[in-house]
Amino acid sequence: MTTCPFPDSLLHLDNFSHGTPRQAIAQLRAKHRIVWQADDHAAGGHWLVLHKPDIDSVLRDPATFSSSYGPLLEDFPEDLLALQRQAMTFLDPPEHRSRRALVDYAFRPAVLEARRAMMQAKVTAIIDNIIDRGECEFVGDVAMHLPVHVMFTLLGVPEQDYAYLVPAINTVTLANDPDYAGSREEGWAASAQMVGWAAGFANKRRQQPADDMTNELLNAEIDGRRLSDEEYGVVFQGLMIGGTETTRNTLSWLFYELINHPRQLALLQANPDLVPAAIEEILRYRNTVVYTRRTAMRDVELAGEQIKQGSKVVCLLASVNRDPSCFEDPDSFDITRDPALTRRQMRTFGFGVHVCPGQHQARLNLEMMTREILARMDKLRLLEAPTHFRSNFMDGFKRMPMAFTSRA
Ligand code: HEM
Repeated sequence: MTTCPFPDSLLHLDNFSHGTPRQAIAQLRAKHRIVWQADDHAAGGHWLVLHKPDIDSVLRDPATFSSSYGPLLEDFPEDLLALQRQAMTFLDPPEHRSRRALVDYAFRPAVLEARRAMMQAKVTAIIDNIIDRGECEFVGDVAMHLPVHVMFTLLGVPEQDYAYLVPAINTVTLANDPDYAGSREEGWAASAQMVGWAAGFANKRRQQPADDMTNELLNAEIDGRRLSDEEYGVVFQGLMIGGTETTRNTLSWLFYELINHPRQLALLQANPDLVPAAIEEILRYRNTVVYTRRTAMRDVELAGEQIKQGSKVVCLLASVNRDPSCFEDPDSFDITRDPALTRRQMRTFGFGVHVCPGQHQARLNLEMMTREILARMDKLRLLEAPTHFRSNFMDGFKRMPMAFTSRA
């Protein structure tokens, strides 16, 4: 068995205090296709898969590498696992397919196009709100608002529920950071509470229907029956969590990198046609979902190692995006790369049956916000170094104070 050359496992939280440890990943990837890493969870360790062909073969074989224990390295408590196993993220085919079909239609190209006017109104309002100040805290004042607004509008959630839902999303997703949760247990509890909140919302909306995705979900039939309130709750949570933190982190990283690469920022300001390529590049360069985990359902050989039934198999998506066999000069941030090639090669949105259904929505959010910022804000500069949150699953900032001038 190949064991980890680092004193602590790569995914130890301390290794992520300044974001994804890219150098350590590169060293591991150069030496191994797959490596066993000790950890302090019940199984005592996990397999880390580092190369794209091996990651793809795991993610395209859900019968062998199941999602039924969830995408996190951590073990879900039994009761929460039972609840979450109603969600598409925790389901394998064939059950996965019918849950997934409930949401896929909402992110088809024509549906996205029809959403542009609603999104542009919000984008304008977000920048209106800060433009005269000359300073903002980019994560909270700018990056979080559009993704939340899009999901609220789709699902028909009233704006006043921002005050409960946004902190709840942070507690669930960032439970290892003491700024968001007192303990890991508090994070698990917040997850169950959020599903309960959404189940209550479903119940209200059955009494008072509206023309939105919530009532479409509640009226849809799977195998001749409708979703229960609780089943709606886990779909709701998946969309809220999947659709918000990820996108806000990516926008924050984009402006962080542009500020730190002034020539690339100037190029983009002079050529807004490069915006889609810049979005693709930041999705590659600073992929915000670091890994996804599967669990082996039988003894199987993978990348030359014998994987025992029940083992955790962690696909390091972050490794693919900086792999020199996938990208030329992978550690340079370059908005002039061919975006179609980047899109094909990167694994930012996963791969296989669980590949992100919201990826085109994410791209549209990022593109519209970026165009507005470039059109209206100038002389962007960081007021202090941004603070990373404590997570090995999500890579992003808690705060990024910034100064700017108005172009108007
Ligand atoms: C930059 C933004 C985003 C990133 C990096 C991202 C990343 C990912 C990844 C890596 C997966 C696969 C997880 C796995 O295989 O276990 C995934 C799944 C998912 N994402 Fe996204 N996502 C983003 C935006 C969104 C948006 C905007 C939405 C909703 C509107 C969304 C909803 C979902 C859902 C519901 C799933 C579960 C799909 C399934 O299990 O079949 N995501 N996302």
